[in-house]
Amino acid sequence: MAADRIRVTAPGGDYDLLIEQGILSRAGQAASAGKIVVATNTTLAPLYGQKLVTALPDAVLVTIPDGEQYKTLETVARLYSDFVAAGLDRSGTVIALGGGVVGDTVGFAAASYMRGARFIQIPTSLLAMVDSSVGGKVGVDLPQGKNLVGAFKQPDVVFIDPDVLKTLPEREWRCGMAEVIKHGFLADEGLLDSTLWNLECAPELVRRAVQVKVDVVQQDPYEQNIRAHLNLGHTFGHAVEQASGYQWAHGEGVGFGLVAAGRLSHNIGLCDARLPETIEKTVSEVGLPTRLNGLDSEAIYAAMGTDKKRQSGKLRFVLLRGLCQPTLVEDVTKAAVIDVLKGLQ
Ligand SMILES: NC(=O)c1ccc[n+]([C@@H]2O[C@H](COP(=O)([O-])OP(=O)(O)OC[C@H]3O[C@@H](n4cnc5c(N)ncnc54)[C@H](O)[C@@H]3O)[C@@H](O)[C@H]2O)c1
Ligand SMILES: [Zn+2]
Repeated sequence: MAADRIRVTAPGGDYDLLIEQGILSRAGQAASAGKIVVATNTTLAPLYGQKLVTALPDAVLVTIPDGEQYKTLETVARLYSDFVAAGLDRSGTVIALGGGVVGDTVGFAAASYMRGARFIQIPTSLLAMVDSSVGGKVGVDLPQGKNLVGAFKQPDVVFIDPDVLKTLPEREWRCGMAEVIKHGFLADEGLLDSTLWNLECAPELVRRAVQVKVDVVQQDPYEQNIRAHLNLGHTFGHAVEQASGYQWAHGEGVGFGLVAAGRLSHNIGLCDARLPETIEKTVSEVGLPTRLNGLDSEAIYAAMGTDKKRQSGKLRFVLLRGLCQPTLVEDVTKAAVIDVLKGLQ
C-alpha cells in the first residue's frame, strides 16, 4: 500500500508527511548517505528504536530519559556530546523518534548542532503525530516556564506509522484526542465523529487531524496571526494544568479548556447554546474531564496571568462563533472568566 503523502510548504523548504502503517520498518529506504543518529527515549528504545537503527545503514541509537522534566538544556547538552561521539557532522541526519518531548528536545539539538543538521521526525504519540511534529517549532523548558527556549526547525520529512499507537498508554491516547477534536472544532467537523476514534481508523484519523495543522501553519508559519487559533482551549487548559500542580495532563487541561471556551463563547454572545453542548458531549465521549472537581477558580484565573500567550496585559482567548469558525477575542473580563469556571465546578 502506498503511503498517504501530505506536502507541507514551509519557509525553510517544503517537506512531506508520509503516513502509512508499517512505514517505520521501511524508513531505512528513505535514509540519505551519511551518519544517522536516532534519538529516542528509554521507553521507546526497546519498543522501536533498536529495530529502526538496525534497519538503517550507518546509524547510532541515542536515548534520553522519559518525561517532560527532561525537556531541558541539560538534555540538549548531553545530546550534543552524543552527536559528537557518534561522529555526526553537518551532512548527517538526526531522527527524533518519540512523542512531543523527544521531538521538541531533539529537534532543538538538531537545529543548533553545527548550526543545523538534517532532521527527520518520527512521531510516536497521537499528539506528536497530529500536532507537535508539524510546523517546525522545537525547544525546551526552563525552570521558569515551559517552552521558553526554542527555534523554528523544519523537518526534512515526517514519517507517521499509526501502528505504533498500539503501545501508546490509554491516558496518552485520550490526551492526543484532545488535540484531534480541537482540530475538529477549528476546521473539520468529520473529526468529531466518534466512529473514527479507534486504532483501526487511526490512519484516517491522523491524516485528517494533521491536515488541519498543516493548513494553518502553511498560512502562518511564524505564528503572526491565524496560527494562534491552534490555542483553542489552551488558555483555560494551561491554567488548569498549572493550578493542579500538573496533576492534570496537558490534554486533560485542553479537553476541559474546550468546554470552557465553548461556554465563554456563548456567554459573550458569539454563538448559540447548542455549540457549548456539542463541545461538552464530545469532550466527555473522549473520556476527558469537563468539570474542575474542586480546583479553585481564582487560582486558575491567576495562572492565566502567567501564560506567555497573554499579550500586553490583556487576556486573549480563541473562541468560536460556531463550528469551524474560530475567532480571537481580546479583553475578556475577569468576571466572564470566573463565571465560566464557577459554572464548571
Ligand atoms: N512543537 C510543537 O509545536 C508542540 C505542539 C504541541 C505540544 N508540544 C510539546 O509536546 C510535548 C507533549 O508531547 P506528548 O504528549 O507526545 O508527550 P510525551 O512525549 O511525554 O509522550 C507521552 C508518553 O507516551 C510515551 N509514548 C509515546 N509514544 C509511545 C508509543 N507509541 N508507545 C508507548 N509509549 C509511547 C512516551 O514515552 C511518554 O511517556 C510537550 O512538551 C509539549 O510542549 C510541542
Ligand atoms: Zn496542546
